[in-house]
Amino acid sequence: MATMESLIGLVNRIQRACTVLGDHGGGDSGSSLPTLWEALPSVAVVGGQSSGKSSVLESVVGRDFLPRGSGIVTRRPLVLQLHKITEGQPEYGEFLHCPRKKFPDFASIRKEISDETERMTGKSSKQISNVPIHLSIYSPNVVDLTLIDLPGMTKVAVDGQPDSIVQDIDNMVRSYVEKPNCIILAISPANQDIATSDAIKLAREVDPSGERTFGVLTKLDLMDQGTNALDVVEGRSYRLQHPWVGIVNRSQADINKNVDMIAARRKERDYFASSPEYGHLANKMGSEYLAKLLSNHLEVVIRQRIPSILSLVNKTIDELEAELDRLGRPIGGDSGSQLYTILDMCRAFERVFKEHLDGGRPGG
Ligand code: GDP
Ligand code: NA
Ligand code: MG
Repeated sequence: MATMESLIGLVNRIQRACTVLGDHGGGDSGSSLPTLWEALPSVAVVGGQSSGKSSVLESVVGRDFLPRGSGIVTRRPLVLQLHKITEGQPEYGEFLHCPRKKFPDFASIRKEISDETERMTGKSSKQISNVPIHLSIYSPNVVDLTLIDLPGMTKVAVDGQPDSIVQDIDNMVRSYVEKPNCIILAISPANQDIATSDAIKLAREVDPSGERTFGVLTKLDLMDQGTNALDVVEGRSYRLQHPWVGIVNRSQADINKNVDMIAARRKERDYFASSPEYGHLANKMGSEYLAKLLSNHLEVVIRQRIPSILSLVNKTIDELEAELDRLGRPIGGDSGSQLYTILDMCRAFERVFKEHLDGGRPGG
């Protein structure tokens, strides 16, 4: 059955296969692959330092696995692909830089992200790197989605960082969000003036119509007594096409006390449900709502793009077949089986997409 869920899942798996093939010597095996990757939607998290980007990303995923904290903790882009697997199967993570190694728990995933960040940038927080870390998470409890965590934008270099760091981070973040298929999660903290938000400033530049920007307001719990963010969350301060979503993430004290995701979500739900200011918006606030909103938007975007993605998929199939002919079938080894895998996926994709185009509405 060609449900939308299977379609998003397929998009995700193709994206993953493109990544693997692109990075493992198969890069010249199909010049459409990078274009195909970019034609598929992804979601990037942008905002100032410590605005809560990594926290939001974790809440959307519903799992604890990212290094978070004050200062520049995220120093390399993290391309995170979530793959939904069948209920009852064990969840695990896999990094592109450690093929075939399964990380069975989220603490070990977090440690590997930190270690791999340091391998490229050193231990001090002075350096950043453009080279992304690719992580796939396979779990029954996630939605199929590609998310990108990015270093925070900053206005001044601190602690002996090179002056160029401000511009370097800006360039890096831009290189992701200026792609027309990038959905922008623009994170602004509620305890700072929205007029000074780095996220909104950048989003306005690269997406002036606001059609691919989701405004997320974090730290509602940290606002000064007697103030509230209704003007922002109700869209009066800065209008976007999509509704603003207010969030209450874990505080640093919560993190230090190891408050888990389930408890954090319950706390967030209670916060909104019992809030005198936001109570009337309770069912449109919080990380779970944001995750649903994103997933629905992704469906809409993929549906719109079916024809153009399909033509790229066809082109990729042709190129892969030509490549396999050139190599002489059957070919073995890793890159051989990768080519077959991606070819099979592209064919599955083509089939499912055609069903959609032929008006085959998903049946239940
Ligand atoms: P990033 O630098 O933008 O990725 O931000 P992090 O997610 O690492 O968060 C920075 C710090 O702010 C951490 O100590 C978080 O616990 C804290 N934080 C983030 N969001 C919230 C929130 O909604 N409420 C509270 N109280 N603290 C938050
Ligand atoms: Na931080
Ligand atoms: Mg971060």
